[in-house]
This record gives sequence, C-alpha cells and structure tokens, in this order.
Amino acid sequence: MCRSLRIRCALTAIVAAAASGACVPLDDFMGDVFGRSMRDQASFDPYENTLLPPEGSVPFAAGNYPAGPYEVNVGQPEGSADLPPPFTMDDMTDRPNLLDGLVNPVPPTAESLARGEEVYERFCIVCHGPDGAGTTGYIFDVHPTMAAHPLNGGTALERSDGYIYGMIRVGRVLMPAYGHQIAHYDRWHVVNYVRQLQGLLEEVAESDAAAAGTGEAEGAADESEGRGEGAN
Ligand code: HEC
Repeated sequence: MCRSLRIRCALTAIVAAAASGACVPLDDFMGDVFGRSMRDQASFDPYENTLLPPEGSVPFAAGNYPAGPYEVNVGQPEGSADLPPPFTMDDMTDRPNLLDGLVNPVPPTAESLARGEEVYERFCIVCHGPDGAGTTGYIFDVHPTMAAHPLNGGTALERSDGYIYGMIRVGRVLMPAYGHQIAHYDRWHVVNYVRQLQGLLEEVAESDAAAAGTGEAEGAADESEGRGEGAN
C-alpha cells in the first residue's frame, strides 16, 4: 500500500513536470524512477570518434574536396604545386620518409603564427592545452589517464615539421584526424605555432611586405583562409 502510494506520487510529479516543462530540478528524480533523465542521452563524449562528413558535404574551407567519397577531405587547395600525396595513419609509422621529407612551404612570419594560434585555439587547445603541455587541456580533467601527448616537450620536439603536419591531417591512435577541418596551409600555420610553443622558433620570419625590399624571404604565407596561393 505504501509502495503504490509512492508510485502514485511519482506519476503525479511526472505529469506535473511534463505540464510545466520544468525538467531541470527533476533530473535526479527522473533518474531514480526511470534510470535516466532526458539530459542523459546520446551525445559525443571526449575521444569518441566522429563520423566522416556525408558525401556531398561542402567543406567550410571552400575549394577543398575529398579525394573519394569515403576518404577524409584532405583539404588541398586546387592547383597548388606543393601538395603532398594522400597518406594514411599507417604511413605515419610505415613510411616516415614520406612525411619527414615534406618541406614546410610557409615561413613563420608573424601573420602565420597569428593564424596558427587561432586555429590551434580552435582545435588543439582542448586536449593539448594553451602551452601544449597536455596536462593543461580540458581533456585532462575528464580523462587524466588518456592525456594528450605534450607538444612542448618529449618526443614532439624531435618530430619533423612534416610529421606534425601529418598528425593534423590523419591523426594517430587516440588523436582524431583534422584533415577535413584544417586545410593545407592552415596546417602549416599550426606547425609554425607549435614550433613557437616549443621554443624552437629561432626568429620570426619577415613578412612579405617587410621583406620586399631585402629580397630575403622566399615566399610568405597567404592568409586567405587556408586557400593561399602565394606560398612556394
Ligand atoms: C581529442 C584530443 C586531441 C586533440 C583535439 C588534438 N590532439 Fe594531438 N594528440 C592527442 C593524443 C591523445 C595524442 C597521442 C596519440 C597517440 O597515442 O599516439 C596526440 C599526439 C599529438 C602529436 C604527436 C606528439 C608526439 O610526440 O608524437 C602531435 C604533433 C599533436 N598531437 C598535435 C596536435 C595538433 C597540432 C592538434 C590541433 C590541430 C591536436 N594535436 C589536437 C590528442 C589530441
């Protein structure tokens, strides 16, 4: 009798909640009665794999197209001469020369570093942290045992520019691929920014405008949203 009274009370409360739309204070109560509340539903958790963009999606960095319907958008500007061939995560370990041999076409100008910082803060900071330590990112609070590798120390210091470019494009193990979100030249801007975080950037390259008189710069980053054509 006592039990049926409790169920009646619960049902009355549910009806009242549904009528008023006031779910928030009842989350715990709903959880007790049904085992879950509406707030506890399918959503992406940290480190959960996202789906690749559906065929026909238009990438936000317009002008980039996936190499095939089920392949990651490699984010290449059309008609550029310095494009690396498509490669996979396995190539990162099996064919290291492919990546280590890539030449960073973007000098680390102040403009490049500013763009690199912007993209880093949009995509990388959540796991690697503002200083690249790996223990300063949001992910560390959630998954301390799966902290991102440090970028400002350890093996990352030894990695070639091409390797870091490759990490951004295809990812590695727990780290997701960002090739479909970060276009070709933006990846190189991020590489430059990571070098700055590592303290390995000896000097900031002169920008195109500043170097015009000296003839020292070999080319500068074109900032037009990863569609640069000016870099060589
Ligand atoms: C979801 C979390 C996450 C995000 C976001 C993320 N990373 Fe990572 N990153 C990792 C993890 C985890 C590893 C270690 C991967 C492994 O276990 O092999 C890693 C490894 C790396 C490495 C290799 C370091 C080494 O010593 O070999 C580089 C370079 C790197 N990340 C750069 C980046 C850059 C640049 C971005 C932004 C474009 C980024 N990461 C975004 C989680 C992340």
